[in-house]
Amino acid sequence: MRHIYANRAAYLLAALLVVATALFAWLRSEGGTLVALDDDAPEVTEFDEVNGWAWRETGEQVFVADCQGCHVRLTHTPELFTAEGGRSYLIELVLFGFDGEMVIDGSARQVDHPAFAGHDDEQLAAVLNHVLVSWNNADELPEDPDLYLPDYIDEARDRELGPEEVAERRPSL
Ligand code: HEC
Repeated sequence: MRHIYANRAAYLLAALLVVATALFAWLRSEGGTLVALDDDAPEVTEFDEVNGWAWRETGEQVFVADCQGCHVRLTHTPELFTAEGGRSYLIELVLFGFDGEMVIDGSARQVDHPAFAGHDDEQLAAVLNHVLVSWNNADELPEDPDLYLPDYIDEARDRELGPEEVAERRPSL
């Protein structure tokens, strides 16, 4: 008699484990994509699409793969984006890199920034949108911000700037 109860208890435990695993997997995923649960996870905002183009997932993927190693967060990008010339400067920075001085929050530093021209237009537009709306940056954007579209990146490729030239085009904040 006793071993029957013991068996039942073991089955019950196993069943609970299966349910718990399934629940955990469900909580961690959303339509197949992994959702980060930590507090630093960029929040999903109303800007998930630009003109019907859903860039969100790509933007986050590129950021995690290629930017996060150096950047935990980038919170002065709305200020750059709205400064005169800043909109195209941000595209040029990711396309051609940067070699020169950046003044951020009053402190100057010499920066040699990598270029990502090998990425396609969709990836670069998406990652720029990602840094523009994440970490509450969206609150600093104008009402109708005209976020990046792949075409804007394509147009900028013809400028073929060097990283020092990009540095000269940086708006002063
Ligand atoms: C090898 C390190 C490195 C990588 C990789 C990197 N960055 Fe940067 N980035 C820097 C440094 C250093 C700065 C200077 C500001 C700072 O220290 O945060 C900077 C600054 C910036 C700025 C602000 C520019 C300005 O004028 O103030 C933007 C925007 C930016 N990076 C975007 C990106 C994006 C998008 C990616 C990925 C596609 C990326 N970075 C990858 C090192 C890196």
